[in-house]
Amino acid sequence: MPRKLVVGNWKMNGSLAVNADLVSAVAAGLPCAGELPGQVDVAIAPPIVYVAQLRQLIDKKNSSLALAVQDVSAAASGAFTGDVAASMVAEFGVRYAIVGHSERRKYQGESDSLVAQKAVAAQQAGLTPIVCVGETLEERDAGRALAVVAAQVHAVLMQSELDVSRLVIAYEPVWAIGTGRTASPEQAQEIHAAIRHQLKQLSEAAANTAILYGGSMNAANAKQLLAQADIDGGLIGGAALKAQDFLAIVQAAQ
Ligand code: G3H
Repeated sequence: MPRKLVVGNWKMNGSLAVNADLVSAVAAGLPCAGELPGQVDVAIAPPIVYVAQLRQLIDKKNSSLALAVQDVSAAASGAFTGDVAASMVAEFGVRYAIVGHSERRKYQGESDSLVAQKAVAAQQAGLTPIVCVGETLEERDAGRALAVVAAQVHAVLMQSELDVSRLVIAYEPVWAIGTGRTASPEQAQEIHAAIRHQLKQLSEAAANTAILYGGSMNAANAKQLLAQADIDGGLIGGAALKAQDFLAIVQAAQ
């Protein structure tokens, strides 16, 4: 069974002052590094420019909090203005890289194949990719949710260099992101079970691949969602910006 994982995706929010307060408050509710780990791994993905600040804050507090980034380049280095390579963030002790978030698929036009290349680039730099998948409302209403998600997952799994034992999938129905509208636990479980089946067809090692749910998960609905057999944690947006709410979700995952 995969270890539970809760990741706070701050998206494009924060400032030096706000981050310092938020990280202190979150760290205060989590075990210190080196202490017996809890049942849940916890990470925060700040905007890239704040990774170094968070590294310092986390180290100063000797916190078990891990660092993630919201995106990485598919390339290792070179003339890619504005991009950041996975090896660069790895130098800051970053553990996870979110790739293929629906906001990047939508606003930056990222394709399934680019997302798959980013997942491989992240792994090659020693990071664990968190690959986001999910259908739009239109696709769900057309009865295509399972097929859309399966195609997104397939694009990643067909990369021959990919190590499925070092992978996290996040199912985020696009219609539930930032809308306050959450997938019901049954709707989410149906998709998670299908993803698990798809992963296991490739390798038994996939039994340990965490599948996170994202999309308006909050302190009130986390327990029910996380009680589902194939929901191994959460990718949290809005609720990650308030320490109390974020820690309540971590608690619900215990
Ligand atoms: O990355 C996080 C997801 O997009 C969920 O965001 O919790 O604000 O709906 P949300």
